[in-house]
Parts: sequence; structure tokens; C-alpha cells
Amino acid sequence: MDLKNVTSIAELLGREQIELVVSDFYNRIQIHPTLAKPFSNVHDWPTHKAKIAEFWWVVLGGKPKFSYKYDPVGKHLAAGFNAELLTDWKSLFKNVLEAHLDPEMSSTWYSRVEIIGDNLLTQDQRLHHD
Ligand code: HEM
Repeated sequence: MDLKNVTSIAELLGREQIELVVSDFYNRIQIHPTLAKPFSNVHDWPTHKAKIAEFWWVVLGGKPKFSYKYDPVGKHLAAGFNAELLTDWKSLFKNVLEAHLDPEMSSTWYSRVEIIGDNLLTQDQRLHHD
């Protein structure tokens, strides 16, 4: 198999579609009954959206375009991340994916959400119990 010709999900979706999903998601976050509050410390939404679009682009197999520094564990701890908020976050993300993408793409992207969400929860619980 010629690995150079394997197309990533990121490329199949395209940068623009990933940016649209991310933008729609954070627009909905800002008016969400439980998620708006933890996100109220984000003041520069265009920068946050750009940073998260790059995050998903790379998670979905795209070649990095920017070199943002991420500190997801520390930032989520500070934001009051917990299991209930994660459930709401995932359900909102799923709705947005389904509104933009076909079922196959939507479930492929969502499977990454599940893995990262579980990891964030594990890290967060470790920090709370130490
Ligand atoms: C699978 C679920 C999630 C993923 C993949 C995810 C991903 C991310 C990433 C990559 C960042 C950027 C971190 C950085 O700038 O260093 C971030 C920031 C943030 N996340 Fe999440 N997140 C998830 C769930 C949640 C939940 C449930 C909450 C609720 C508290 C949350 C609240 C925040 C906030 C408030 C920020 C901005 C932090 C800041 O810039 O000060 N996230 N998230």
C-alpha cells in the first residue's frame, strides 16, 4: 500500500467544513443552559474557534498549519470540567455534527470525541483525587 495516497478524514471533510462545525458549535455553546457559564471566561471567540479548528484538523489526520500551544488538562480543570458537563458537551457536539455532515462522517468524527472525552475525564478525576 502506498501510504502517501491515503487520504485523511480531515482532507475528506476539508478545512472549511471543519471550521464551520467548530464555529456553529461554539455559537451554540454561548447560549447553552449549562455550558455557557464554564465558557464565559473565553473572551476572544475568533481565536478560540481558530485554535479548536486546528485541534480537530490535526486530530482528524490533517497536517498541522499553526503551532498553537495547548494545555487541555489544566484549562479544563480551571473551567470546572466534570462528567455532567461532558455529557452535555458531547450531546451538543453530536447535534452539530449531524446537522452538517453525512451519517458516516459524523459518526467517524464523533468516535474521536468519545475517546478524547473519556481521556479528559480520566485525567480530571486523577487531579481531583490526588
Ligand atoms: C470531548 C470533549 C472536549 C474536547 C475534545 C475539548 C477540547 C478542548 C480544547 C482542545 C481546548 C483548548 C485548550 C487550550 O487552549 O489549551 C479546550 C478549551 C476549553 N474547554 Fe474543552 N473540550 C471538551 C469538553 C469540555 C467540557 C465538557 C467543558 C466544560 C467545562 C469544556 C470547557 C472548555 C473551556 C472553558 C475552554 C477554554 C479554556 C481557556 O481558554 O481558558 N470543554 N477544550
